[in-house]
Amino acid sequence: MDYPFSSLAKSSLIPSAINQLTAEFAEDFREGVDINLGVGYVNDKTIPVEAIREAYSDIMSHPDHYRNALNYGGADGSPNLRNSIRSYYTRYNIGGLEDKDFTNRKILIGANGATSILDALSDILQPGIVITADPYYYIYTETLERKGFKILAVPEDEEGLNTKLLENELTKVSSYDVSFFYIVTVNNPTTVILSNARRKAIVKIAQKLSEESGKLIPVIFDKAYEDIIHNPEMEKPVSGLKYDKGNQVFEVGTLSKILAPALRIGYIICPDNDFAKILTQRTSDIGFSSPLINQEISGWLLDHYIHIQKETVNKGYQQKAAFIKSQFSQHLGPYIESYSGGDAAFYFYITFKNIRTDKGSPFFNFLSRITGDPDVDGKGEKNPRLVYIPGTICSKTEKAKYQLRLSYGFEDPDVFKRAVKLMAEACEYALKF
Ligand SMILES: Cc1ncc(COP(=O)(O)O)c(C=O)c1O
Repeated sequence: MDYPFSSLAKSSLIPSAINQLTAEFAEDFREGVDINLGVGYVNDKTIPVEAIREAYSDIMSHPDHYRNALNYGGADGSPNLRNSIRSYYTRYNIGGLEDKDFTNRKILIGANGATSILDALSDILQPGIVITADPYYYIYTETLERKGFKILAVPEDEEGLNTKLLENELTKVSSYDVSFFYIVTVNNPTTVILSNARRKAIVKIAQKLSEESGKLIPVIFDKAYEDIIHNPEMEKPVSGLKYDKGNQVFEVGTLSKILAPALRIGYIICPDNDFAKILTQRTSDIGFSSPLINQEISGWLLDHYIHIQKETVNKGYQQKAAFIKSQFSQHLGPYIESYSGGDAAFYFYITFKNIRTDKGSPFFNFLSRITGDPDVDGKGEKNPRLVYIPGTICSKTEKAKYQLRLSYGFEDPDVFKRAVKLMAEACEYALKF
């Protein structure tokens, strides 16, 4: 006899490629020896531990303002936090948004980070085609596929999703089959920043597609990394909401990258209509609300500490990125065709000239120490290993076999120095084949 599993449950039985990869590695990971540049952890040192302590004390001392902070919260989120997010946007003129852009819109807080909002969207919208950039944010595309959506991944260039290619792709599908657009504004894995011209063009294409199909096709901009665009010379992003002509554009944000992932605070700015009502119900269904104390702490940090936090976090990543770039040019120059990254977020996405990076390739086997050659793998104790995200996890294109993502969020520069040297050795090894 079997359990009466749903089709989602059945598809969840198969671990995703990335889960498989990390599970294999996590089993015998050696702290201080092996290096994990695969995970998207933020730098622990950027987490404002003292400010969080102060926030907690202040909240507990002011129960009139922060009511029932350790109790259940409302499913649409703490009014304090929602006000703080709105004020953060208008004070910093984020995305060019002003107070008037928030009328007829709601800020809703997800049950557990932006991830739970993205998951809720996949419950709310009927399965169909989801348009996104290639390479794609594999964690969400996998969720979508498990829920029966089809991914239409359109290659990006240095400005983000290529809208000319998108228009061409759209001639091959029925507009009615398109479910929604999922656009990561600082893309994960490449950290390519979507230009304002492209944002506008994407919204325009979605508007046309909606007219053709007779239904409103939402454009979801995931701006998870927009708070950490650390190169001050980059174009200042304009919010996709500015191009909205009628309840079609949504923005998903998170405080994970700028404050702390463990607070699990993600939010959406969306039209104040049925969509908002349904999303709120989904949050309630999943866990009543995001933990209220975390919401109050996050709001407090946005009100009292974000000016310091923004500065220190972005400076930190900027310095790290510059250091890593110098390591690349010192040790990897001859092997690399190109790379993106170093201006925003904390990933580099490397394209090698003629070295494959996918699972089973000599490069991969070298860094996993599974070549079968004791001189490479280590005699007795395994030599240091290095984990990265192979491009094939983020794209199905041929080129992806030669690509990889490295995260410089978590590890210190001296660990990265070791990692780059290991990669250079792996390149030399791979070129023998
Ligand atoms: C593009 C993107 N969206 C959303 C998230 C998830 O954010 P949260 O921690 O708020 O769930 C991530 C996390 O890495 C991400 O890379």
